[in-house]
Amino acid sequence: MRNPQLNKNGELQHLLTLDGLPRDVIVSILDHAAPFTEVAEREVKKLPLLRGKSIFNLFFENSTRTRTTFEIAAKRLSADVVNLNVSTSSTAKGESLLDTIDNLCAMHADMFVVRHAASGAPVLIAKHLQAAGRDHIHVVNAGDGRHAHPTQGLLDMYTIRHYKHDFTQLTVAIVGDVLHSRVARSQIAALNTLGVPELRVIAPKTLLPAEIEKLGIRVFHDMSEGLKDVDVVMMLRLQNERMSGALLPTPQEYYKVWGLTEEKLALAKSDAIVMHPGPMNRGVEIDSAVADGSQAVILPQVTFGIAVRMAVMSMLAGQ
Ligand code: CP
Repeated sequence: MRNPQLNKNGELQHLLTLDGLPRDVIVSILDHAAPFTEVAEREVKKLPLLRGKSIFNLFFENSTRTRTTFEIAAKRLSADVVNLNVSTSSTAKGESLLDTIDNLCAMHADMFVVRHAASGAPVLIAKHLQAAGRDHIHVVNAGDGRHAHPTQGLLDMYTIRHYKHDFTQLTVAIVGDVLHSRVARSQIAALNTLGVPELRVIAPKTLLPAEIEKLGIRVFHDMSEGLKDVDVVMMLRLQNERMSGALLPTPQEYYKVWGLTEEKLALAKSDAIVMHPGPMNRGVEIDSAVADGSQAVILPQVTFGIAVRMAVMSMLAGQ
């Protein structure tokens, strides 16, 4: 069966998840992103690849990095960008998601960038567009519930490739609240597809999905064992907004056991990089000395995110 994100020519039609996205498509996005990093160094930071296209940013959930970098990326590609203010839009009066989409289609939208608290919202929109024969309109998932955050996963892969070059030589550890994390799901899918031979998660049992080992992952419940000799440490935020019931002791106790400090990081390889998708909770999952330290590549992740989002949007709708 054809991957629903690809059109009949095998090109990207939508970007909804990294699960099942072929390796050559992921590598192609990373390769496309590389020259876009140079656009930021130019006096005129613009390319005409999306000139005349209308891109609608639909963020039904809070965001700093993703919303802003999608907007910057679209503007650097010369698209017209509309940021729907959800709190003052008609969704606040009870309009359904798909009615909102139909109305924006009537305004000749070319692409929707969607963040939603409900897992599956971007897939629902993509299927709705397909049923209406609107194959010229593209959907990019900017994070849906616990399901997926594909552009975050891609910018993380770009960052790892930039610093570490060869995925097939790496030991990578993902640390923290995997259970509620759409970022972790996208990272795991991409790291497996790109051939990382040793992928670890380090977390308390209450913050891990059932049967995670089936994804080809080594599970650790001890930071000193899990961090030993890793090349890449990918920290996760405690996603309190998606937790129901008490899964944890206090943030202070969590930090004592699971927080990444300089002492714990010393167990990883001496040239290990530390990543975090943001927003960070300093003193909960990560110590400030690590977040601001020489091994952290957290702010480069944000910068690479612009180039990766330029690559995705130009591959979907570029001239
Ligand atoms: N990483 C990430 O999705 O950050 P935002 O919530 O600020 O977009």
